[in-house]
Amino acid sequence: MTMVWIDGRVTDAADASVAALDHGITVGDGVFETLKVVGDTPFAMRRHLARLRRSAAVLGLTVPLSDEQIRGAAKEVLDAVAAGGGEPGRLRITVTGGPGPLGSGRDDVPATLLLAASPAGTWPPTASVVTVPWVRNERSPVAGAKTTSYAENVVALAEAHRQGAGEAILANTVGALCEGTGTNVFVVSGGRLRTPSLATGCLAGVTRELLLEVIDAEEVDTLTLDDLRRADEAFLTSSTRDVQPIADVDGRTLPHAPGPLTQAAADAFATLQAADLDP
Ligand SMILES: Cc1ncc(COP(=O)(O)O)c(C=O)c1O
Repeated sequence: MTMVWIDGRVTDAADASVAALDHGITVGDGVFETLKVVGDTPFAMRRHLARLRRSAAVLGLTVPLSDEQIRGAAKEVLDAVAAGGGEPGRLRITVTGGPGPLGSGRDDVPATLLLAASPAGTWPPTASVVTVPWVRNERSPVAGAKTTSYAENVVALAEAHRQGAGEAILANTVGALCEGTGTNVFVVSGGRLRTPSLATGCLAGVTRELLLEVIDAEEVDTLTLDDLRRADEAFLTSSTRDVQPIADVDGRTLPHAPGPLTQAAADAFATLQAADLDP
């Protein structure tokens, strides 16, 4: 069961609505966050709210509520899932440009803010990934912002699914390894753990950011898709997957999944989460 908070009211998702010409619908003018919920607490809410505001600023959107108000709305929508007998596992916060004209220009109207909570999905213990020929544009004006314009990710993920994989991995315009459609990527070779730097155009993932504070990993802009294909071990990170070992890339099985550095990263992340739900 998915519940939605909008304009101070919580309803079943099937009964929640936004204006038909909301700029989020007509042109994908919006930003969002997806958080994991642990018990009744959204994990790393402070960092997600900070990124939401950073993404909104990139698009010139003003988030219409304070962090405290958003936390209050989150509690209401999570409580509603629990009241319906569900165990909320996932929280999404979306901010869009609000009702607007049919083209890219935006009217001077308050942004739309909505929160949705649902039970968590489950991920397999390891991921099969494929590389795709499309690129992330690290020079895009919205590079690094978590916008609702996810059509490229939809197409790339559909291609991964078509090939029987669970995630698609993209390089950027100069061929550097960047990220997955909804994940950051870490690669181990020669005993070194590395991840694409933010300069590659990847999202500043909250899971990635937290891991970099507790494990020894280098941020580089020189990894390639071949480095991933030839890795000794590799893993994906995201708010709903945490650390997910990669089992195979383009049909080639990696030597270890999880390998020792992947397991160490997963353990370090679990320890961090057990110590603090808003690190
Ligand atoms: C494109 C993209 N990269 C990376 C991530 C991982 O970020 P986080 O760890 O904040 O969930 C996401 C997650 O939504 C994403 O959409």
